[in-house]
Amino acid sequence: MMDNLQKIITERRAVFPRQYNTQPLSKETIQKVLASANWAPTHKHTEPWRFKVVYGEEKLEEFARFLGAAYKATTARFVQGKYERIMDKVCRSSCILLICFQRDPRARIPEWEEIAAMAMAVQNMWLTAASMGVGAYWSSSGLRHEVGQYVKLQEGERCMGFFYMGNYDGQLPKGKRGALTDRVDWL
Ligand SMILES: Cc1cc2nc3c(=O)[nH]c(=O)nc-3n(C[C@H](O)[C@H](O)[C@H](O)COP(=O)(O)O)c2cc1C
Repeated sequence: MMDNLQKIITERRAVFPRQYNTQPLSKETIQKVLASANWAPTHKHTEPWRFKVVYGEEKLEEFARFLGAAYKATTARFVQGKYERIMDKVCRSSCILLICFQRDPRARIPEWEEIAAMAMAVQNMWLTAASMGVGAYWSSSGLRHEVGQYVKLQEGERCMGFFYMGNYDGQLPKGKRGALTDRVDWL
């Protein structure tokens, strides 16, 4: 069990839409990924993670058009290639989860603890996806700030990025990390 978990942790990679194939993810697979998010730990059980699921060709195309238009409307320097890449990434994905965060209305704990819990929920999803051979990555694109114009966000709810997902073929590259010894002091 432990070895298996270590393997999933170290072999999990950011897998980008350009690497995805056209084989769609099943709804069941997406449900499993989402269910693992819900098991992240939280201080005071605030469970601040919220997800909006963009799934199916029609919805993905709609979201691609939205993001393209949002880029056009907000960029200081429009670049046609970037505009096309933004939309292409969405259309190459099988599913995109809009990662949202709901601040506790009673502010019982510091906000950073809730953001930390939300990130743990994302890591759960990323590891679950990796364990099933599903490609995924978290993008913190500045366009996340525009998501409130695409879906209704509650009071105190913010979008923290996009979790792109898709099937892929072939091997993933080996990950790179600095030396642990530079980062740990045994006291
Ligand atoms: C909070 C967060 C935001 C990220 N945002 C981006 C992003 O906007 N663009 C991108 O290419 N990768 C993004 N990544 C993915 C990282 O680039 C990737 O995880 C890192 O390069 C390490 O690679 P690995 O995950 O394959 O080990 C993000 C990761 C995290 C945790």
